[in-house]
Amino acid sequence: MTYPEHRPRRLRRNEGIRRMVRETKLSVDDLIYPLFAAAGRKIRKEIPSMPGVFQMSVENLVKEVRVVQALRIPAVLLFGIPAKKDAVGSDACSDDGIIQTAVRAIKDAVPDIQVITDVCFCEYTDHGHCGILTREGEVDNDATLDVLARSAVTHARAGADMVAPSDMMDGRVAAIRAALDEEGYQGIPIMSYAAKYASGFYGPFRDAAESTPQFGDRRSYQMDPPNAREAIREVALDIQEGADIVMVKPALAYLDVICRVRDAFDLPVAAYNVSGEYSIVKAGEKLGWVDGGRLMMEILVSIKRAGADLILTYAAKEAAKALEE
Ligand code: PBG
Repeated sequence: MTYPEHRPRRLRRNEGIRRMVRETKLSVDDLIYPLFAAAGRKIRKEIPSMPGVFQMSVENLVKEVRVVQALRIPAVLLFGIPAKKDAVGSDACSDDGIIQTAVRAIKDAVPDIQVITDVCFCEYTDHGHCGILTREGEVDNDATLDVLARSAVTHARAGADMVAPSDMMDGRVAAIRAALDEEGYQGIPIMSYAAKYASGFYGPFRDAAESTPQFGDRRSYQMDPPNAREAIREVALDIQEGADIVMVKPALAYLDVICRVRDAFDLPVAAYNVSGEYSIVKAGEKLGWVDGGRLMMEILVSIKRAGADLILTYAAKEAAKALEE
């Protein structure tokens, strides 16, 4: 009988020692909580495929943000669901649009929370694509840049602390940066959805934001899932154009991409633990097949371990509670 010379198990014997040698620590400071602002009043409508996630009208949203702040989550990401959609997504560029109204109300009531706004057109257009269409029904890149920039300026004017373009048009970060600077918002950072894939994991979100494309899909602007080198190129372009934080999205099926982006650049890296990643855990838990809470914390720590500094997640509130314990 030979006995092992090296015994890694010594450092796993009890929680005290495990705590000392733990390499990755998830903190409440890493979390960003996405919220859906709906036009109207007295709305608090749960998304069937996303238990615990609601569309909320502004007064309920403000209440929710107070809860988020009490949990010490530093930031929320806002999506808007307008009263009316049209071909050019007019609500997204209106100073009285749903997102602008929501930002003003939140910053008024809870000034210390960082309000990040999603800049995109899919929630505002009647066709559900992320920009303006050509006559042939393709998303017109350069025409979209103009409206994205205008939309971002209205968000900043309403008091947004940061804007997050999620449309995946070429050149949008430069266009938004230039427009913000011109209007005097040099201090407002851009968190770009830099490597955003055309993913099946967005399914539940599209119910929540009512943004399913009415024809076709998003593959002509979002990235092809098998590509990782291309993500480096996308991130490099966004950084050149002025992005302050770069995001990889989705997170769980793209941990390798997070890891590569982390290694290649020194800017803060965010990862979006998207709707489908949340829903499958909740569904598994409901079936009694998995321990949802445990899975969620394991997923979040794996995203951090892969190299993300910030995690956008619908589980932010539960994670914050678990981290307090
Ligand atoms: C808008 C946008 C999407 C998500 C964030 N911003 C949906 C999409 O591209 O279809 C997805 C978020 C999620 O699934 O949680 N372009």
